[in-house]
Amino acid sequence: MTDKSIVEQKLRDLGDSTPERVAARFAEVRTRFDEDANRQSANLEAWRSFVVQWTGRKSGMLTHITDNWLKPASPELKRVVGQELNQLKAHVESVLAERQTAIEAAAEQSARTRDQIDFSLPGIEHAIGTRHLIRQTYDDLLRIFGAIGFSVVEGPEIETPYYNFEALNIPEHHPARDNMDTFYIEGSRTGHVLRTHTSPMQIRTMEKQAPPVRIVVPGKVYRRDNPDATHGYMFHQIEGLAVDTDITFCDFKGTVDYFAREFLGPKTKTRLRPSYFPFTEPSAEVDATCHVCGGKGCRVCKQSGWIELFGAGMVNPAVYGFVKYDAERLSGFAFGMGVDRLAMMKYGVAEVPLLFQNDVRFLRQF
Ligand code: PHE
Repeated sequence: MTDKSIVEQKLRDLGDSTPERVAARFAEVRTRFDEDANRQSANLEAWRSFVVQWTGRKSGMLTHITDNWLKPASPELKRVVGQELNQLKAHVESVLAERQTAIEAAAEQSARTRDQIDFSLPGIEHAIGTRHLIRQTYDDLLRIFGAIGFSVVEGPEIETPYYNFEALNIPEHHPARDNMDTFYIEGSRTGHVLRTHTSPMQIRTMEKQAPPVRIVVPGKVYRRDNPDATHGYMFHQIEGLAVDTDITFCDFKGTVDYFAREFLGPKTKTRLRPSYFPFTEPSAEVDATCHVCGGKGCRVCKQSGWIELFGAGMVNPAVYGFVKYDAERLSGFAFGMGVDRLAMMKYGVAEVPLLFQNDVRFLRQF
C-alpha cells in the first residue's frame, strides 16, 4: 500500500519552498510509484487497487497532489508544481497502460496453469471388481462350445406354458410337470410362467431356423425350491442343442467327452446313466470322474469316484413335430447344465447363497 502521508501535507509544511526542492519531492514520489509498479505481479485484484491508489478520482495520489500541492501553492511555485505534476501524471498513465496488458496476460496464464490437470499425479483408483464366478464359468462354457461351432442365443425368462412344457412334449397333466415347482405369473390370462429351464429356447430356435442347428443358451431359470445350501429359487443353466441330418449317439458322447475334458481337465472320463426327460429319448445323466481324486474316491465325490454333471439325451422325435422338422430325416442331441452346480463343484464352493450375497471377501477369491 502506497504511503500517502506526504501527499496529504502541503508543500509549505514539508518545507519545500524552492523549485529544486519541489522537483526533488516529485522525483521522490515518482520513484515510489516506479517501485510500487514494479512490485505488481499476476494478481489482478492487487493491480486494480494499485491503479486506484494512484489515479482514483477521490483520493488517489494524483488527486491528493493536485489538492494539497498544486492548489495551495504560492504564486512563485505554482508553475513549477504544475509542470512537475503534469509530467508525473503522464508518466503514471503511460506506465499503467503499459503494465496493464502484461499483468492481464500473466493473470490469465497463471489461471490456466492452476486449472491444468497434472497427469503425473497418481490419481484415484476406483475398484472395478472382477467377473463374478458365475460369469467366469459362463465364459468358460461359451468358449468351450464356441470352439466346436455352437452359437449363442438367449431367450425370455417369462415364458408361455407352450414353450416351457407342451412343445417339449410335456402335456398338461404329465407327471413331469409336478416336480418342476413352477412359478406362475399372477393375473396372466395365458398363464405365463417363469421358465423352469432353458429348454424352451430349443423350440423357439427350431421354429425360426431351418436345420442344421447348433446352439447354446445361457440364462436364468426359476423353480419354487426352498432355499438351502444347494438350492435357491433361481439358478443358471446353459442349454445345448445340435440337430442335423446325420447326428448320432456317437457325436453326442464325443461332444460330452470333449466338454468334460475341456472343463475339468484332459484326464477326465465320462459315463452315461439312464435317465428320463420327455423331450429326449434316450435320456441320460452325464457323470465325470471326480476332478479332485481322479476317480479313486474322496470327500468331494462322496467316495464314489464320480460326480454328476448334467442331464442330456437324443432329441425326442416327438419334439420335431412341434417345430415342423422332418423327424424321419433329422436327429440330434440336447443337454441342460446347471451352471451354479458346475461352478461350485469345480471351485469347491459349498453353499449356493455364497454366490449371490456379493460379499467381496468371497468374490475376490476367484
Ligand atoms: N431341461 C432339463 C432340466 O432342466 C435338462 C435337459 C436339457 C435335459 C436338455 C435333456 C436335454 O432339468
